[in-house]
This record gives sequence, C-alpha cells and structure tokens, in this order.
Amino acid sequence: MADTNDIVLGFWDGHDSGAALLVDGRLVCAINEERLTRRKLEVCFPRQAIRACLQEGGLRGEQVVQVAGCTADWAKTISRLWPESKERYYRLRRRLAWPGLLDPATRLAKYHLTEWPGNRLTRWLSEQALGRELAALGLGEARLTLMDHHLCHAAAAAWTSGLDDTLVITLDGVGDGRSGSLHWFQGGKLRPLASVAARDSVGIFFEQVTTLMHLRELEDEGKVMALADYAPPPDPASNPLLELIEVRELGFHARLHASGLARHLKRLYWSQPQERFAALAQQALETWVVQLVRQALAHTGGHRLALAGGVFANVRLNQRIRTLPEVEHCSIFPHMGDGGLALGAACLAGAPRTPMLSDLYLGPALAAESIAEVVRASGLPHRYLGDPVPEAARLLTAGRIIGWVQGRMEYGPRALGARSVLARPDLPGVRDQLNIRLKKRSWYQPFCPTLLDSEAQRLLSDHHGPPDRWMTSLYHVREPFRVPLAGVTGRDGSCRPQMVADDDPGRLARLLTALRQTTGFGVVLNTSFNPHGAPLVHTPREAIDAFVSMGLDHLILGDWILDRP
Ligand SMILES: [Fe+2]
Repeated sequence: MADTNDIVLGFWDGHDSGAALLVDGRLVCAINEERLTRRKLEVCFPRQAIRACLQEGGLRGEQVVQVAGCTADWAKTISRLWPESKERYYRLRRRLAWPGLLDPATRLAKYHLTEWPGNRLTRWLSEQALGRELAALGLGEARLTLMDHHLCHAAAAAWTSGLDDTLVITLDGVGDGRSGSLHWFQGGKLRPLASVAARDSVGIFFEQVTTLMHLRELEDEGKVMALADYAPPPDPASNPLLELIEVRELGFHARLHASGLARHLKRLYWSQPQERFAALAQQALETWVVQLVRQALAHTGGHRLALAGGVFANVRLNQRIRTLPEVEHCSIFPHMGDGGLALGAACLAGAPRTPMLSDLYLGPALAAESIAEVVRASGLPHRYLGDPVPEAARLLTAGRIIGWVQGRMEYGPRALGARSVLARPDLPGVRDQLNIRLKKRSWYQPFCPTLLDSEAQRLLSDHHGPPDRWMTSLYHVREPFRVPLAGVTGRDGSCRPQMVADDDPGRLARLLTALRQTTGFGVVLNTSFNPHGAPLVHTPREAIDAFVSMGLDHLILGDWILDRP
C-alpha cells in the first residue's frame, strides 16, 4: 500500500465534471461524472466519479490526504454557492429548458461575469462549499488545494506528453480570468511565459459561432468544423471574421468584447449560407492559432509542443499545427476540454511519473460475473465465445455493424475500442446508415477509423511522427485508398484515426490484424457506443439497452455475443 502522502485525488466540478486518482505517481483511475449519472457533459459535483476512483484504488475516503480542485473565479464560485444556477445553464445549453425572455440579458451577464478572475474571498467561499461536498464523501480531513484553471490544462498537457523542453499552450473559452496560457515545461516544472486575457478568447469566438448556428455551445463546436468541409475554401482576403482578433507576439487582442462580438457575428451571419459561415469561422480560428503557435515557437526556439484546452478539440486546427515545418513533435492531451481538468489538478498536487499515459482505459472494468448474469437475464439470443476476435472479424467482414464492449472504459471524449460501435469502412452507405438510422446524428458528421500502425504508414500521406493513439488530429488519406475507406474519410480526403500498435496483445489489435487478412485493410470504422444524446455506455446493462434501442446487428460484450432478436 502506498504511503498516504502519495495518494492524490484531483477533481473538477464544472462542465464535464470528473475525478482522477494518482497513487504513488501512477494514474490509477480517471472518469467523468457523465458516465455514471448518465447525463452527457454532467456539471454537478463529481460524487460518483470520486467514489469510482476510490473503489478502483481500493481506498477509503479517510486515506486520501491530498485533494486538488480547480478554478476559484467569480462565476465558478457563484455556481458552487448556488448549484441551481449551474443546473439552469446546463438545461438551457442542452435545450432541455426554454430560454425565456431574459435570455439576452442572462447571456450578457454571463459574458461579463465569467471574465472576472477570483480573489481571496472567492477562493475562501469556494473552499467552504467544496469542503462540505468532500466531507460528505469521507474526505473532510483531506488537504484541499484549488489550482488555477489554465495551469491545470497546462499540467495535463505537459505531464501526459512524455516530452521535455517543450512549449505548452492552452486555449479555451475562459477560466480564472484567462482564455489561454503559454508555459515552458522542463525537468517536471512549468515556467509561465504569457497569458491570454479572458476578453481575447478565441474559444468564446468559436462558441458564439456555434450558438449562432443553432447548435449547442461547449458541445457542438465539432459540428461547425464538420460543416465547414461542405463549403469551398474561403478566400482569406474576403473573410470578414479574420479582422476580429489580432495576433500579438504571445497572445491575442480581440477588437470587440464578447457581448459586442455576439451582435457583430449575428449581422455577418444572416447573409451567409450556414456551411460558408462555418468555413469562415474555421479559417479564422486556424489562422489566429497557427500564427500564435509559430510566433511562440520562434520566440522560445522550441520545436516540441504540448497542447490542451477546449480549442484543441478542433482536429482540423491540430492537423495544421502538427504539420508545420518547425514542429518536430506535437502532443495533444486527449481529454483537452474541461473534462480533463481533474487529471491536471492531480498532476499539479502530486508527483506524477512520466510518461504518464500508456493507454486511456482508465475507467472502471467490467466484472466477468456481472456480464454473464446480465447476458443470461437479457432474454436475447446469446452465445459464449471465450475469445470473441474470430467471430467479430467474421461478422464485420460480412458487413454487420456490431457493438464492442471490452475491459476498462475509455477516458475522454473518444471511443477507443472499449465502448465502440464497429463496422467495415467500405460498407456501402455506412455513413448515412450509422448517422441517420442508428445514432440519429447530423448527416454531415464524419466517422473515424481505428487502424494498425503499419496501415497508418501505408494509407495516410501526412503521418510522419509518432503514432496518434487517441484521435487528436486529422490526417490525409492517400488518394487510392479513399474509396475503400469511404466510410471514414471526409469530403476533403481526411480522417481522424486511432492508431494501434501491430504487436499490441489486446483484442482490438488482433481484430484489426484479422480484418487485414479478410478485407485487405487493418482498419475498422469506430464510433462511440451510446444512444443519441447519451454518454458512452458504462455497464453491461446499459450496453444491452443501447444495443437494442440502436438496432445494431450484434453486441460483443466481453466474451459473449448477443444477436438482434
Ligand atoms: Fe478550460
């Protein structure tokens, strides 16, 4: 058993709340509350996530002496004192409540309030509110430290990158009065270089574009990026959005405050087709961030990058950065949004070992007994397979769409082959079938491939660096392979792959190897296993319910297979 001083629990209690547990510098468990409360991007205090971490670590609350949270600005503190305000915003944002006549005034207040940094009073008030929550979980005696929002993003990026002598850049909407930060990471220490003020936020800019297009802010920004693919590339000389933010040496300067920006964008939007407006916004974001990155690399003389913050959920932007000639290695923290803050807080409070992440299967595992019990009680046709790989390969080759649930659940926003829906990428009409019929998503959203490292070398034209294990960037599919990979290739010929080592002994790698023998490609279409609007499935029961409601052909659950009745 580790010394109690070596046990550090990190948590985040805002948008996509969650917890992460470090024991003796090793990441034992990390999970977000949404998977347990079943509300996507949950905002409540992460009680169940903390309990899950303790259970996974075999710990009682009293054994934890060090607890690290994050953010003590005014907006966050108010939401801790009045959790109803947080719940109200969550319901509005997810279109579960009607905004009402006060919506414009509420938005105006939000844009101003979220920019205010905290002070000693907000910190004290936050600590009191959080102390009560922690005490209820048996963590009342633990030492609570509240870390800075962007420092947590930076810590998560730095310690999980496996890099040293690295420029660390964080960009998001806003937190603790900042929308970005630049640090130099060396010898396990983060040295601050510069900050981006809250009012100069490129994250808020993209959030406002998302809202304006009647999509959900903090959730549907990826849809804006996907829709941009359906417009011709805009001419930068006639992009009116580019002038809204100026890139200064190590930061941004916004010409308008967020409240004025919303009105200005509305005026520009009304005369544009939706996909063109998305393309203008995407081009503006890429231009600003790429310029900042280049200037920061030139300023520091660095060639390595570690990135985090919600802005880096934009995989098209990440592709631009990754392929810059001066970038030798670009590591993007896979849980880049606020959902990853708990891990960052734990890194700052503890002494994480590096490299910190070998994989992202950090959630609770499936117990074999509970799977068998639930499968037998399901009333669905089922068989015990033992090793499910040969049967899964046979079914996928035959064109079936299967749910695939194995081992510990993935951490972060992407399904990585532990709670996935899998299909052949060359199945005719697979994209529409999955988007419209099975997952009920927007028709233009792309799907991603999971492929072997050797296949990444063969099939992708701009893959030169280390393998991308966590779907953090786009890559170009070589021209001759765009038809056989049609289900996972965007209109511009790009895809967002998860690369799996050929010699990985796990079932996913063996499945890909088997598919290469039968289909000629060690590639599978991999999308998250969740019913429309819900988080990734967690328990065997949820997997079976989702299998039935989504109408998949088969479900492979641990060592078992269930068939559609
Ligand atoms: Fe953030």
